Amino acid sequence: MSVHDEISDTVGRSQAGTGATFEEILERRLSRRGLLKAGVVATAVVALGSEAALDGVHSVEAAPVTAPTDQSTMVTFTPIRPDTTDQVTVAEGYRAQLLISWGDPLFSDAPAFDINNQSVAAQERQLGFNSDFVAYMPLPLGSRSSFEGLVWNNHEYTDGLMMFPGYDAKNPTREQVDIELAAHGASVIHVRRDATGEWSYDRSSRYNRRVTATTPMRISGPAAGAEMMKTSADPTGAQALGMLNNCGGGWTPWGTILTAEENFNQYFANLDLLPAEDPRKALHTRYGIPKAESERLWERFHDRFDVSKEPNEPNRFGWIVEVDPYDPSSTPVKRTALGHFKHEAATCVVASSGRVVAYSGDDERFDYVYKFVSDGTYNPNDRAANLDLLDSGTLYVARFSEDGTGVWMPLVYGQGPLVEANGFSSQADVLIRTRQAADQLGATKMDRPEDVEANPVNGKVYLALTNNTQRGAEGRAAPDAANPRANNAFGHIIEWTEDGGDYTATSFRWEIFILGGTPEDPSSYFAGFPKEQVSPIGSPDNVTFDTRGNLWIATDGQPSNLKVNDAIHAVPVDGPQRGRVMQLLSGVTGAEVASLAFNTDDTALFASIQHPGEGGTLEQPTSVWPTGVVARPSVVVVTSTSGGTIGA
Ligand code: FEO
Ligand code: CA
Ligand code: CA
Repeated sequence: MSVHDEISDTVGRSQAGTGATFEEILERRLSRRGLLKAGVVATAVVALGSEAALDGVHSVEAAPVTAPTDQSTMVTFTPIRPDTTDQVTVAEGYRAQLLISWGDPLFSDAPAFDINNQSVAAQERQLGFNSDFVAYMPLPLGSRSSFEGLVWNNHEYTDGLMMFPGYDAKNPTREQVDIELAAHGASVIHVRRDATGEWSYDRSSRYNRRVTATTPMRISGPAAGAEMMKTSADPTGAQALGMLNNCGGGWTPWGTILTAEENFNQYFANLDLLPAEDPRKALHTRYGIPKAESERLWERFHDRFDVSKEPNEPNRFGWIVEVDPYDPSSTPVKRTALGHFKHEAATCVVASSGRVVAYSGDDERFDYVYKFVSDGTYNPNDRAANLDLLDSGTLYVARFSEDGTGVWMPLVYGQGPLVEANGFSSQADVLIRTRQAADQLGATKMDRPEDVEANPVNGKVYLALTNNTQRGAEGRAAPDAANPRANNAFGHIIEWTEDGGDYTATSFRWEIFILGGTPEDPSSYFAGFPKEQVSPIGSPDNVTFDTRGNLWIATDGQPSNLKVNDAIHAVPVDGPQRGRVMQLLSGVTGAEVASLAFNTDDTALFASIQHPGEGGTLEQPTSVWPTGVVARPSVVVVTSTSGGTIGA
């Protein structure tokens, strides 16, 4: 995600006629423990006498989770101050190594990066642009190796102004467009740590791979082969060319990557040229397909990006794509059972029954949070048997209630309102039109659902909501318990427990964990931790956990809302430091920290520095990170200078 998605500078707390004060809305869903520690808000609770609201919170604490109560989760580094320099800064006792940058050769025979001599053939053999989701997959497969593995890296989107000297955004050349197609997708990078603690990648590895926006992919699951998936290039409706706007992701217990196609709408053009009576018009409108030409203008060179010529092509993007990083010849698979929307990510957890649950947010203001529950069960002893588990199961969308409960509502054709009388014709139709189906079910409109992930230690699930400056605006949804701030510029994090501690449950209990902002902002909240001891945080986007269960957060929006670089923050979720947000790393000018991932023993933290210098151009740069020449999106590795556990 980039600056295209503007964030308001102001942090208004006007309630826009919602009838409730900010404190009244907020206090309904903060934990009692947090409220008591927060003092001033606790007073408001007493005044409200909202015992019903607090009942749910007690239930959360009584849920069968294994929250540590000792010091085992303590995070010990001294947080750094927010920074605005054009260099990656980390806390004392840590260092950040540059692992790989856009254009670096991935293969022995690949050319070196040369911004003045780019080609499609070169880009297909080099790291793609705008690094996003990063994952560490140990080598060999099935091991827990902490010093050798495969780094997966998404290449979310391209920016011609930051890629091509003299780029004319109104007149891109065909070659530039095709280089951008090749710069999308993802990379697999074989990495190793040497005896000195230095990380590097191996250009000669047989595992290295580029996936691009033209790589052939299989479409599977209930929507594969549906009429609305067919194009003139693919009459089967089951073979797509490439993946687009792959933002966050996750990995499966069987060692595959789930990579999430997010803002796929921006690649398409000319919705206005589709006849009004065409049923795809409403679908494409709900997903934001541009009415006239696209900003990228790719439709000038490729008919598939012109919906007046290929009206079904957008239906083939906006899915979760499963890729086996251990098999460089494997065909990526778009898993339609997980729904069609602007997937931020997809993160897996195995329920006690063995069924696989994948959580996913739809990153749009006022859109929804989903989870998929597989029909089949995970078999740890038979990898091949797991490879199509994500083709069959139930997709659910969340409704958060004011009393701290929530329900997962199934998106199943023939159930509830998802019937012919309401225009739904099949399960494929429900999945292709996931957003409209979820609209019918009355899902809760959220403040841009980003990463959502289960904590491997305490079992709770954490959802990052990055911001929504339109919350409470005229004609838009008012604040509610789960999205309690009007003009929510700083975002928040919700924490929930699936009922019975069962990830397949259709009900849950939730509370607000963090409300972003500065400690001085009266509307910020850090699970009740004393505010004077926390780092300011804005726009939580991607999250991960260390093996001790601490939450680590990468941000996308601090340059807008806090006027400082984006960052990585740690925050314990249990124990005496619960809610203490601590900044470990500062990114560089114009960049977001798009993703973060630990190795298997928390001695390395990989992070993507995306769109450095955004807002500038190559001719008038605002960043020349990482090497002082030209801004290049990159992956860095944070380690402790002692080689020990990060954060401990
Ligand atoms: Fe690509 Fe939701 O950020
Ligand atoms: Ca993101
Ligand atoms: Ca994550």
